[in-house]
Amino acid sequence: MSFDECYIKSVMRTIPDWPEPGVMFRDITPLFKDPKALRMIADSFIQRYIDTEVTHIASIDARGFLFGSIMAYQLNIPLVLVRKKGKLPGKTIHREYALEYGTAAVEMQVDAVSKGDKVLIFDDLIATGGTILAASTIIKELGAEVYEAAALIDLPDLKGSELIQQAGIPVYTLLAYE
Ligand code: PRP
Ligand code: ADE
Repeated sequence: MSFDECYIKSVMRTIPDWPEPGVMFRDITPLFKDPKALRMIADSFIQRYIDTEVTHIASIDARGFLFGSIMAYQLNIPLVLVRKKGKLPGKTIHREYALEYGTAAVEMQVDAVSKGDKVLIFDDLIATGGTILAASTIIKELGAEVYEAAALIDLPDLKGSELIQQAGIPVYTLLAYE
């Protein structure tokens, strides 16, 4: 099934002024009620990464998990978790990043990836890019390489994908909302 951007956008839902005034929230939940949409998205990502050197999927808490686990299963490679700080047991490493107001932090278990691994970071959406950049910092500090950052949706006006590419990380997305 080839990727049909218009179809996916027709299934997606936009909620204005949520969670705060001025935000156009791009809601992915309807995609998971539509097997055709979900399969189209998964197939497109699998085609891109099937015959590559990617060794691990690092998916981001929480919406990134929904796509990341499908990808890891289909590509038959390990899935590692990038979680909001305070959710993972054992020895962890965290990095903070800026939000519009204040800061947030993501963390990984220190044995999640290591030298020689080529890690694909996977999330649902790129806005300011802060989450993916913090995840990539951790992955590099653990000695692994970031192969690419992939997400279903890019919000190019927020320049996050540009920032990630400026940091030397290729970015791949399937949809953009200007
Ligand atoms: C959203 C989204 C990305 C991140 C993108 O997650 O799922 O992970 O924001 O924003 P950024 O590019 O500005 O960093 P959120 O933190 O809302 O968490 P959730 O997945 O638990 O809803
Ligand atoms: N995360 C950050 N910005 C978002 C938006 N506009 N819609 C959905 N998730 C988001």
